[in-house]
Amino acid sequence: MLQNKTAVDTLITKFGGKKGALIPLLQEIQEIEGYLSNDSMRYVAEKTGIKLAEIYGVATFYTMFRLKPQGKHVIRICKGTACHVSDANSIINSVHENLGLEKEEDSTADGLFTVMEVSCLGCCSLAPVIMINDDTYGKLTADSIANILKKYN
Ligand code: FES
Repeated sequence: MLQNKTAVDTLITKFGGKKGALIPLLQEIQEIEGYLSNDSMRYVAEKTGIKLAEIYGVATFYTMFRLKPQGKHVIRICKGTACHVSDANSIINSVHENLGLEKEEDSTADGLFTVMEVSCLGCCSLAPVIMINDDTYGKLTADSIANILKKYN
């Protein structure tokens, strides 16, 4: 089910039929829907005549597209050079441990958190850094994670 069919229809009208429009169309749909669901990709195929396989191919090729819903809070863990040398791996492990996530999982079952690794958050002097939604936390240690996560529910 599309959450915001009217807005998606407006986007399809805006981009429909334009060459090279599939990526920006999918980006904007993701912005309003939160992710690209099978339903939204099917809907785009139906409305634009673009083959579903092509849409799915684009959506799975580019890492900017999310195919699953995001948690209420998004945790971005920096793995850029400055953070990497400041032991970002221990931060990643601690976040996963505190959330009870396996290594390959990125979202908690209760829909509260989604974890993603990013290449730089633009505040390298604070390494290692994470962001939770719009809040930045720097100079972290693995032990500091539990208290930070408690603030979000
Ligand atoms: S490398 Fe982590 S904030 Fe830049």
